Amino acid sequence: GKGEYDHFMLKEINEQPTSLAQAIEGRVDSTTERIALSDFEPGTFENVDSVQFVACGTSYHAALYGSLTLNQAGVQSTALLANEYSVSAPPIDDDTLVIAVTQSGETADTLNALRRADAEGARTLTVTNVVGSTAAREADDTLFIRAGPEIGVAATKTFSSQAVMLALLGQRIAGDLRNGPPADLESLLPALESMPTDIDALLDESDAETIAERYRDSQSYFFIGRGLGFPVALEGALKFKEITYEHAEGFASGELKHGPLALVTPETPVFAIFTGQEDEKTLKNAEEAQTRGAPVIAVCPDGHPAVETADEHLAIPDTDPELAGLLANVQLQLVSYYAADLLGRPIDKPRNLAKSVTVE
Ligand code: F6R
Repeated sequence: GKGEYDHFMLKEINEQPTSLAQAIEGRVDSTTERIALSDFEPGTFENVDSVQFVACGTSYHAALYGSLTLNQAGVQSTALLANEYSVSAPPIDDDTLVIAVTQSGETADTLNALRRADAEGARTLTVTNVVGSTAAREADDTLFIRAGPEIGVAATKTFSSQAVMLALLGQRIAGDLRNGPPADLESLLPALESMPTDIDALLDESDAETIAERYRDSQSYFFIGRGLGFPVALEGALKFKEITYEHAEGFASGELKHGPLALVTPETPVFAIFTGQEDEKTLKNAEEAQTRGAPVIAVCPDGHPAVETADEHLAIPDTDPELAGLLANVQLQLVSYYAADLLGRPIDKPRNLAKSVTVE
């Protein structure tokens, strides 16, 4: 049941410290500074020459996150929408690893992409929450995110667990390929281990409800981020539109000036996500929106330069740049939740949506 919470969504947002602790349990070894990920034999990925992720919706945002971490680790990778894959898959060979990211393991679009990749000779791997699901059974390998059941239609805790597991998997693939000493994980590993405590602190002190109340009558809601903040901007907007039924869009920060700025007015709050990767540029992009009258809500640690210039601040604990976006995402989940609640939306079962989409 929902226990003390009004909705499963809020319960599941609050479960993230636990679900993330479960996800990384036994998979990280900070004493040897290694990503153990003993789900796979040593050298499993040593012949991989490129990675394609296929996924839909929120899982696609996690896939994009994973793909960017792989690129940053020097491995060629792309994230593709599973429903576009049949018309636009890049070339595949035996050394292509295709990773399906699907919470339910039953999404028709994602299963189709997985089957096509398999038929073309790729190696396949499924990252999922559901043991025994179709995607888990059909792929060559599986990695379970261990988030526990998610009842709310809006994916929350499964997104954060997917993203974290993909970051670990990315480091593991890069490590197998290098076949030498591990990457410098001196900052990432302790940050991973303190992630549950960080999210606990964030949940305790979040101003998301106040922000949702203050901007509830806006016309449209924009989310901007760069690097690993970009998939979080897309996810922030998807969650917002899904449960509030209000218009929201996510953009790469640098894209704002290439068109979307035309939409910016005092009626369009801009949530700016700072992850420690070229933050000064994102700050400039946010200020361009502010000049047009838009209120800017900076999602960043205390003491960050953006706190000074932004209209509002949603605080995240200091962490490794690889994880900062995921902490920001928790604040954005809360903003969506409270905005939807204030509007009297059903939240756990938004109109026209189903938890698992088994048609093309
Ligand atoms: C959004 C949401 C959907 C799913 C998408 C893929 O909150 O839940 O966008 O993420 O339908 O579902 P899975 O991950 O089960 O393949």
